[in-house]
Amino acid sequence: TLMLKNDGRPPWYTADGKNLPVYMVGIAGGSASGKTSVAKRIVESLDVPWVVIISMDSFYRRLAPEESKQAFANNHDLDHPSSFDYVSVLRVLDDLKHGRSTSVPQYDFATHAPRDKSQNIYGASVVIFEGIFALYDPEILKMMDVKIFVDTDSDICLARRIKRDVADRGRDPLGVLDQYDRFVKPAYDSFVRPTMNNADVIIPRGLDNQVAINLMIQHIKRQLDGSNATIMRPILVDQYSAADQ
Ligand code: ADP
Ligand code: C5P
Repeated sequence: TLMLKNDGRPPWYTADGKNLPVYMVGIAGGSASGKTSVAKRIVESLDVPWVVIISMDSFYRRLAPEESKQAFANNHDLDHPSSFDYVSVLRVLDDLKHGRSTSVPQYDFATHAPRDKSQNIYGASVVIFEGIFALYDPEILKMMDVKIFVDTDSDICLARRIKRDVADRGRDPLGVLDQYDRFVKPAYDSFVRPTMNNADVIIPRGLDNQVAINLMIQHIKRQLDGSNATIMRPILVDQYSAADQ
């Protein structure tokens, strides 16, 4: 998933070419726990020009032909930490952290493969990085200004996942259940859930927890306000002076 909130201003920059601080939010949690939904809610509530959601799903490694065959039979593990290309994740996050444009791969769940086209992003003042292993890699953790873990009951996640994977990801319900037993549940217990320890904030029930989400939004807004002098003003001053001429 990738979403840009763009109020029509050009990508931000400074007159003196300085890198601007970028605020980074990591959101981890089990599959279908509500990570994307929480990320979107935060985006909707932030009144800053450029907010981008980067989904870890974009960084699934390309499968070898035999692995792909197994994936179609719900018999390939796509929930192990090694399923993701962390070098690419770090390249994208590092680009955005330093105010550079970047290119994000796109993934097709129906074919278990990356799409041919990637998506260009021209910069962001807030980056939300969400995925089952968003709080797993130490280098990624270092980049995050705030780390959130969405903790939703696994039966609720499974019910949502069945509906979503059938409606959006080209799956059949029994296949989803097989994959859940074999890979999703064991990997959650062994690898995903322990990353809760890396979180600053745990949000029980995901999107249903309005109070926790509002607190998080207030926190992020306060952090952004605190850095307004250095982040937002140079952009606006620069744009106004360009328009005045
Ligand atoms: P994740 O990003 O963790 O996989 P999503 O936010 O994409 O989870 O949610 C998975 C599915 O569950 C989606 O179809 C979404 O619309 C639905 N969903 C998420 N949160 C809720 C909620 N609080 N109530 C009802 N449906 C929800
Ligand atoms: O969006 P969500 O966090 O649910 O995405 C992660 C899940 O996607 C993993 O649990 C994995 O099993 C599933 N997946 C899949 N098929 C792929 C790639 C990932 O079912 N080709």
